[in-house]
Amino acid sequence: MSELIWIVGASTGIGNELTKQLLKEGHRIIASARHIEPLEELRKDFSTHLIPLRLDVSDAEEVAKICQQLIDQGDLPDRIIMCAGIYFPVTATKVKEASVAKVMDVNFMGCVRITEHMLPHMQSRGTGHLVYVSSIAGYIGLPKALAYGPSKAALINFAEGLRIELANTDIKVQLVNPGFVKTPLTEQNTFKMPFLMEVEDAAGRMRQGMNSSQFEIKFPKRFTYMLRMIQMLPYALSLKLLSARTNR
Ligand SMILES: NC(=O)c1ccc[n+]([C@@H]2O[C@H](COP(=O)([O-])OP(=O)(O)OC[C@H]3O[C@@H](n4cnc5c(N)ncnc54)[C@H](OP(=O)(O)O)[C@@H]3O)[C@@H](O)[C@H]2O)c1
Repeated sequence: MSELIWIVGASTGIGNELTKQLLKEGHRIIASARHIEPLEELRKDFSTHLIPLRLDVSDAEEVAKICQQLIDQGDLPDRIIMCAGIYFPVTATKVKEASVAKVMDVNFMGCVRITEHMLPHMQSRGTGHLVYVSSIAGYIGLPKALAYGPSKAALINFAEGLRIELANTDIKVQLVNPGFVKTPLTEQNTFKMPFLMEVEDAAGRMRQGMNSSQFEIKFPKRFTYMLRMIQMLPYALSLKLLSARTNR
């Protein structure tokens, strides 16, 4: 069945690929980002099915305004996929409040803002689907991720709580935890990324997962299970293991 889907963070990477794949499936897509030129370009092929929207999720007023605008024009989405995210390395010698706050503001607070303004309308309607794109970096602390990791850990915790609270409703909450995916975000990584996936594959796994009732959509399986197992070990072992694997 065709849905109205809002993809937040749709100009590049996973969000952009999802936009293309979900358009081909026949859905109507509201695609937002700060830079909408790539989406305007895509619109040439999909015209009325694609609505590009300029939105910076770190601007609370703008998020409130855009959400209200969608509601007022009768465009309450059936599904919202929150993909907007930023990453830059923050290491032990580079911990700065401003850098950590910036990443938290986009990766975590951006999702909180959209939830604040859209969830009440989904609750009034009685149906909805919220998809939060976090990361395996939120499972456990990793080097260089002293801002990114905490933002994704917060998002995992937020989605878990929301899923429990909304368990007996028709509002589905899902969490996506990808491993490494080849996108502009990972282009800056200088280390060899294990189990690096193509963006088409990652978006395909997400589409499949979103059609299921599972809470967590994670891929690639081998890498994500490996990290989950490390996370369950006592710290004496897990931190030693991660240190040996990453401090090289
Ligand atoms: N690639 C990976 O290996 C990987 C792994 C795990 C999780 N993830 C997560 O997957 C999501 C997508 O990442 P990606 O790899 O596809 O990266 P990407 O290509 O850099 O895409 C990030 C998207 O977020 C948007 N964005 C960034 N800041 C924004 C802001 N302030 N307001 C609104 N939109 C903003 C960007 O658009 P504009 O710049 O035009 O605003 C872009 O569309 C992120 O949440 C990321 O943390 C990625």
